[in-house]
Amino acid sequence: MAGPGARSSGMTLRLRLVLALLVLTGPARAQPDVTPGSLPAAPEPPPIQSDSARLLPVLATHGMVSSQEALATRVGVAVLKKGGNAIDAAVAVGFALAVTLPRAGNLGGGGFMMVHRAASKETVAVDYRETAPGAATADMFLDAKGEPDKAASTRGGKAVGVPGTVRGLAEAHRRYGSGKLTLAELIAPAEKLAREGIPVESGLADSLPRASGLLGAWPSSRKIFYQGDHVLPRGATLIQTDLADTLRTIAERGPDAFYEGAIAQKIADAVQGAGGIMTAADLAAYRPEIRQPVRGTYRGYEIVSMPPPSSGGVHLIEILNVLEGYDLAKLGAGSAGALHLMAEAMKPAYADRATWLGDPSRTKVPVAGLTSKPYAATLRQSIDPERARPAAEVKAGDPLPYESDQTTHFSVVDAEGNAVSNTYTLNFSYGIGLVAEGTGVLLNNEMDDFSAKTGARNAYGLVGGEANAVAPGARPLSSMTPTFVFRDGKLYLVTGSPGGSRIITTVLQVIVNVLDFRLNLAEAVAAPRIHHQWQPDMLMVEEGVSPDTLALLRAKGHPVKVGASSGSANSVMAEDGLLAGASDPRQRGTLAEGP
Ligand code: DON
Repeated sequence: MAGPGARSSGMTLRLRLVLALLVLTGPARAQPDVTPGSLPAAPEPPPIQSDSARLLPVLATHGMVSSQEALATRVGVAVLKKGGNAIDAAVAVGFALAVTLPRAGNLGGGGFMMVHRAASKETVAVDYRETAPGAATADMFLDAKGEPDKAASTRGGKAVGVPGTVRGLAEAHRRYGSGKLTLAELIAPAEKLAREGIPVESGLADSLPRASGLLGAWPSSRKIFYQGDHVLPRGATLIQTDLADTLRTIAERGPDAFYEGAIAQKIADAVQGAGGIMTAADLAAYRPEIRQPVRGTYRGYEIVSMPPPSSGGVHLIEILNVLEGYDLAKLGAGSAGALHLMAEAMKPAYADRATWLGDPSRTKVPVAGLTSKPYAATLRQSIDPERARPAAEVKAGDPLPYESDQTTHFSVVDAEGNAVSNTYTLNFSYGIGLVAEGTGVLLNNEMDDFSAKTGARNAYGLVGGEANAVAPGARPLSSMTPTFVFRDGKLYLVTGSPGGSRIITTVLQVIVNVLDFRLNLAEAVAAPRIHHQWQPDMLMVEEGVSPDTLALLRAKGHPVKVGASSGSANSVMAEDGLLAGASDPRQRGTLAEGP
């Protein structure tokens, strides 16, 4: 299997250049949001709706919540109506999705929340990514022959990272909430949904049968998600009494009640009972981090996104910087020419990801170099507008697994212009499928996002190296890309998505669809997407791209594979006092709604 070490000498030169740029530009520094007038004037954005539109976004004036599950969206809308701000609403949505979208919403996983505060014009990133337990070791996912043991990093107790969601959401509320609503008030709707039950329909009914293998393996999970020998059928009611009790305990005693005492002990017991190494002390020690976002510009708009330990923001900006040198609008939305350039810009970014990205507390990530315009200019030099470059060391016949609905993203904007872009996850759908007995909490398998060894692929086919090795307390590298776009210093777009390795390119295409192709938000979110991640050397294309275009792409040398849809880019746009919301049509039951 090819690793970063196997890359061509041309690539090595490029990597040296990143280092040089790092030295020249220094590490990423905290900066205020760009002030109006400090960038070249941003071109006029597309109209929120036009006579030619085939799909229309939802419009509102006093706030907008766009999430993957309708009950949770309505919980957020109700918080806005009560006078809560976008952060209050997002925290309530985060707890609600743990109940109503159990495959991805969670208490037992982790994620990233980007927060924009209108009054101070500041944006911060709340990093509540899981951490490796204290007893984790670099070789813990290698078998006796020194090869990656996929089952260990994805199925059993060793796969579970220390969950960050509860302290993350609570910290966001404490620091950035309006102060008008208590954490208990924001948790109450989730508790009610868990205790009274929700109908098994839409995305829940779609996902449960696919997860029967994972959930069915654990008696504690069968008790909740099964009826007899089968998962709950469409039309049944999902009641989660233990989860309701856990939520009530957190509401009454605060987030520490999840990390210390009876709940923490039950989680540690469940993980150890499943062969894992997490202890109650690991849970007690977990802390979210407040980070400065990574920043870039694209055609006069400012891009503000998630920094390491996510690779998302860095590579989103790296790819946009490369594309800025081309007139994509002239080539046209969905044209082979534009899709080709996007694919060629994606490849070097994923190659960089494999080498450079990891937990910033353990490895020096050259953020400034990777996101600089001069670096992008050098990358453009090796792009041929007519020919696809074969990725180095292709391993034939290695299809990417279909991963689409295991993480979830929601976007919230309130009437004052405060905003949240939140992506969180259990990694796989329903994580390892294990509910910690007596807690209702499903456990993640985020440890698979580490590199088991240099050059090994994770479940999304992503290769990684030393920078992303397992280490005690380290955060596994992520692709989650919660993002804001600003125009003339004003919030313009809030977006993000699930999709494993495809998250970064999904967010990229929502932005390009709006800024270059002038699609309205609903059309930008719905348009067919492509994805290339350097290795394996394959251009993944969603259904909906015309056969003529596919033929042109193949003629340029792209190994095109038309496959499953990916992503759920639930987004909000702010323009001229109006808010436009679009939830992604790829999943059933998504909803964008305003108060
Ligand atoms: O953090 C990451 O990049 C992954 N654990 C995200 C997984 C994901 O998006 C799966 N869903 N589609």
